[in-house]
Amino acid sequence: MADATRTKLPDVFDKCLTDGGYFGPQRAAGDHYLTRPVLPPIPDRIMEFQGKDQIMWSVNNYLGLANHPEVLEVARAAVDEFGVSSPMGSRMMSGNSQYHLDFEAELARFSEKESAFLFNYGYMGVTGTISSLVGPDDMVVMDKLAHACIVDGAFMSQGQVRVFKHNNVESLESVLKRINRDRKGGILVVIEGVYGMTGDLAKLDEIAAVVREYDARLFIDDAHGWGVMGEQGRGTADHFGVQDDVDIYFGTFAKAFASIGGFAAADKSVTEWILYNARTQVFAKSLPMLYVQTLRKTLDLVIAGDDRRARLWAISNRLKNGLRDLGFYVGPGESPICSVFVPIGEEELEKVGMAAVAYLRDRGVFVTAITYPVIPLGLLMFRMIPTASHLEEDVDNTVAIFRDMRDAIGLNPQMSGEDEAKVRKVFGR
Ligand SMILES: Cc1ncc(COP(=O)(O)O)c(C=O)c1O
Repeated sequence: MADATRTKLPDVFDKCLTDGGYFGPQRAAGDHYLTRPVLPPIPDRIMEFQGKDQIMWSVNNYLGLANHPEVLEVARAAVDEFGVSSPMGSRMMSGNSQYHLDFEAELARFSEKESAFLFNYGYMGVTGTISSLVGPDDMVVMDKLAHACIVDGAFMSQGQVRVFKHNNVESLESVLKRINRDRKGGILVVIEGVYGMTGDLAKLDEIAAVVREYDARLFIDDAHGWGVMGEQGRGTADHFGVQDDVDIYFGTFAKAFASIGGFAAADKSVTEWILYNARTQVFAKSLPMLYVQTLRKTLDLVIAGDDRRARLWAISNRLKNGLRDLGFYVGPGESPICSVFVPIGEEELEKVGMAAVAYLRDRGVFVTAITYPVIPLGLLMFRMIPTASHLEEDVDNTVAIFRDMRDAIGLNPQMSGEDEAKVRKVFGR
């Protein structure tokens, strides 16, 4: 029988009964509207949400390759040949195959690096790569807007972590200068190629030059640039003509490739180190054959995908221009991602932001709204992902519904000089 006089000690589960933690109020309210919306599993330009068709602007199917018939054909053949379990075990033990090795060689060739190594998720790849390379005397220097997997990789490593202002080359230089005064180990500078939230490109040419000057190494997580930017979709470093200056190039298959997994490409000695030391892959089952085979087909389609990239840009430009014509401030991102900033007073932000999102979804436009701390207080950002599978009519309908939303809820999209300065700061300009 329980002893009623015993003092109750803290329980790790206590917090689960509160509305704290990430998106705590939404979790406590059982939200499926702003967080964890329930959507049909097949990605498309039109998707149903709560019984209504939506023009979908929140899925990273950049090149429209999701469910490409040739990929599905390869998938069926792969299931017939290999089943769904293969291979079993980690690459280190029993999960390696010649198919994995051949695909890695193809990725290395395309990335113009000596060697490449596969991961099961981009997240696992970035965390595993950073934490395997950065030892106790080393340092990670990362951009302030770096994705969570970069932050987590840095803190999983045994090194110290420094942050520089977003896309600010002077800030990076001053951090490196300070470290070099009494430097004991190596430095890994980690940036994204295309910043997935805001859609701006890293100033890769300038950053690469500074990294060289201060004897550091450059790791670029090009999740949103790979397949999209550069010649044949080789990525953001290729777009800037600095692929050779990137020490580790990282791509994920979860965006333009519309699949799952990721890879790091670098000198052979580096990928060999990673493959023996990245705990997120050494201690995890290897990428299933179904994905290895379909991804190889998708790589061919991406390389031959200039028409898809042209289509993506056409949709993106039409959307950005249409929204600008309505008076909305579209961020200066040079990637296809369309980030729309709206000034809304701090007190009204939640109410007006919610009304805007609800209006758009009621009329069949699905966008994600972003607020502080990703962007400064007093601003709301609609982050929209154009894809090659969108139609012109999707864009025109979306722009018309944005106009109606602006008028219906009395939104004044006009940015003051101060607001614009805040946005430029987000973009490091
Ligand atoms: C910049 C960046 N890196 C890594 C990831 C994680 O990739 P994955 O979804 O393949 O795990 C994402 C996904 O959101 C991302 O935006």
